Amino acid sequence: MAAASPTTSAENATKRRLIDSHGRVIHDLRVSVTDRCNYKCIYCRTGEYGAQYPELAIEEYLRLIRLFVDLGIEKVRLTGGEPLLRNGLIELIQELASLRTTSGQALDIALTTNGHLLDKMAAPLKGAGLNRVTVSMDAVDAPTFERITRVPGSFNKVLNGIRVAKAAGLTPLKVNCVLLRGFNDNEIEGFARFAREEDVVVRFIEFMPLEEDRLWSPEIVVPLKEIVARISREMPLVPLAPREPSETARRYTFSDGKGEIGIIAPVSQAFCGACSRVRLTSDGKIRTCLFSQVEHDLYGRMRAGQSDAELSAYIVRTINEKEARHHIGEPGFLKPSRSMVHIGG
Ligand code: 5AD
Repeated sequence: MAAASPTTSAENATKRRLIDSHGRVIHDLRVSVTDRCNYKCIYCRTGEYGAQYPELAIEEYLRLIRLFVDLGIEKVRLTGGEPLLRNGLIELIQELASLRTTSGQALDIALTTNGHLLDKMAAPLKGAGLNRVTVSMDAVDAPTFERITRVPGSFNKVLNGIRVAKAAGLTPLKVNCVLLRGFNDNEIEGFARFAREEDVVVRFIEFMPLEEDRLWSPEIVVPLKEIVARISREMPLVPLAPREPSETARRYTFSDGKGEIGIIAPVSQAFCGACSRVRLTSDGKIRTCLFSQVEHDLYGRMRAGQSDAELSAYIVRTINEKEARHHIGEPGFLKPSRSMVHIGG
């Protein structure tokens, strides 16, 4: 092989990267901008609107995100709660779009939403510089969908939001479906057809113990193997090669090459060894794993007047402590200190 050009090696030497003590490169930051949500999905929330944590000002998220990007983050996913409820989101995205990664690229900016407000917001989001959206949608049957979200009329709002977002160019558009046995596992084949008809990437997610109500049990999880077998009975699935080692979803297409399905299997086939993620909660705490027992108060340090250099050093130290893996399903497993809606998806 030819020797690398001087420019390339110089770039490599100066390019900053965040690496944890297990050798994993952390390049994906998820930022929750609110833990409020306008849905009360049965596998996530209780029926009540419960505790809410403080939110940071938009400029404060921006300052913290900049520090992460300067340390090597290449992709930012905005989440919640429901991020589209957050005032100032468009301005935040505009600012993020002007940032450059340590390798000089534009930041990859994505957002996860329940889709309820997407019909009105897709065009402004795209205009601000958002690249892609993922919409959470747990049924393609309207009554089942609304039994899950507990919001009447939500199915048509979300379906319309998906179509408008696609037309606005927020693509490839991904649809996340959390499967719960006995509740929506009869939607699997319908979702496979939906992926092809609507030209969206449907991703089934194994249910993790992150809900407010304690309904998780291993029996409720619909494992990857079962999903593949069920779809293949109707339409044979063909595996696709991973695009990058930290990809969470196993990807498949159909024998005619039309449509894409992904399966995210954190329970039956955990992918912690290739994890590239770190999270910032809406109240400014770093979470190094969804299942962390501890949080790291970055915002508290910022409010106490620490400098960018001090905060960056704290981020590096915290990431170094990132857990090797989660322990779902093992004896002695402890649920995380907060539930998904308060951590950020
Ligand atoms: N297990 C798996 N996925 C979940 N999500 C929310 N709660 C859970 C859970 N307990 C999904 C949401 C969203 C994504 C960020 O995580 O539906 O699509």
